[in-house]
Amino acid sequence: MRKKIALIGGGQIGQILAMIAAQKELGDIVILDIPEFENPAKGKALDLMEMAPHGNYDAFITGTSDYKDIAGADVVIVTAGRPRQAGMTREDLLAVNLKIISTVAAGVKQYAPNAFCIIITNPLDAMVYSFYKLTGFPRNRIAGMAGTLDTARWRAFIAMELGVSVADVAGTVLGGHGPDMVPLPRLTTVGGVPLTEIATKEQIDRLALRTREAGTEIVKLFGKGSAFFSPAWSAIVMAESYLRDKRRILPCAALCQGEYGVNGLFIGVPAMISANGVEKIYEIKLTEDENALLQKTIAGVKKTTEETKL
Ligand code: APR
Repeated sequence: MRKKIALIGGGQIGQILAMIAAQKELGDIVILDIPEFENPAKGKALDLMEMAPHGNYDAFITGTSDYKDIAGADVVIVTAGRPRQAGMTREDLLAVNLKIISTVAAGVKQYAPNAFCIIITNPLDAMVYSFYKLTGFPRNRIAGMAGTLDTARWRAFIAMELGVSVADVAGTVLGGHGPDMVPLPRLTTVGGVPLTEIATKEQIDRLALRTREAGTEIVKLFGKGSAFFSPAWSAIVMAESYLRDKRRILPCAALCQGEYGVNGLFIGVPAMISANGVEKIYEIKLTEDENALLQKTIAGVKKTTEETKL
């Protein structure tokens, strides 16, 4: 039987999620939005069905505002919420998006209690924590899409700077999904060559800063709304690793219970995603300087998470 993917939120990211999930034939797709946006969700679903003959995929795609229609979903991806506008931080969204996540958590808990859930709504670290608290789902079935995107940005900027294939850039970004996130140049390689040997300190510092501010750079360019292509693809990579048991190691916001000295917070860490969900968190031995940066981002995540009062 085909898998079922429920997309909660059918806005900018939701519609791209639907398109990529269909093209990759991950399963049938339900796009759920609020009643005021039910028709646009249905319209996007219908448009994607009409794209199928040339897009060359088999997937049934529907739009709805009724949680009954997500019943039995294998994967739930949540983008419901407000995006940032120019001049806003991700944290400015906390109060409004917390209310939305509460509704979403109730619906998912009732109708898709066994799904692997990927949260994209910002402020990411606090929203994924809230979803965990409100659903009571086990930690292996909830992950925040942050590090996968932050690492993609880091890799893209390195490839652009050095004029090499992005496929050969490997690395990771730890910590919260905000300006204190921690790209790790020491552990980044380009075709197996350490980044630190082929790029100057000035280049590395500049690319790390650009990575930390990448979301804001896009928000400024758009003028209205935030990134949507790259967040969607990043979440699809996570969903695919779960659905196809690819066992990819992807940095994502996972519940730490002792790892990196953190207890009870969702922090961006390298995690293996298999058919069991977040199967394993990998701990990296950090240098003193790297650890100091990590502690700073953890403090930021703790502060925003505490503001949820959950
Ligand atoms: N239930 C379902 N959908 C909802 C709800 C809700 N309670 N509240 C809002 N939505 C829908 C909106 O109607 C809209 O269609 O969520 C969708 C959000 O889409 P956009 O406004 O286009 O935002 P998008 O760019 O997709 O970003 C979504 O991801 O990266 C984060 O910061 C970003 O928090 C934002 C989220």
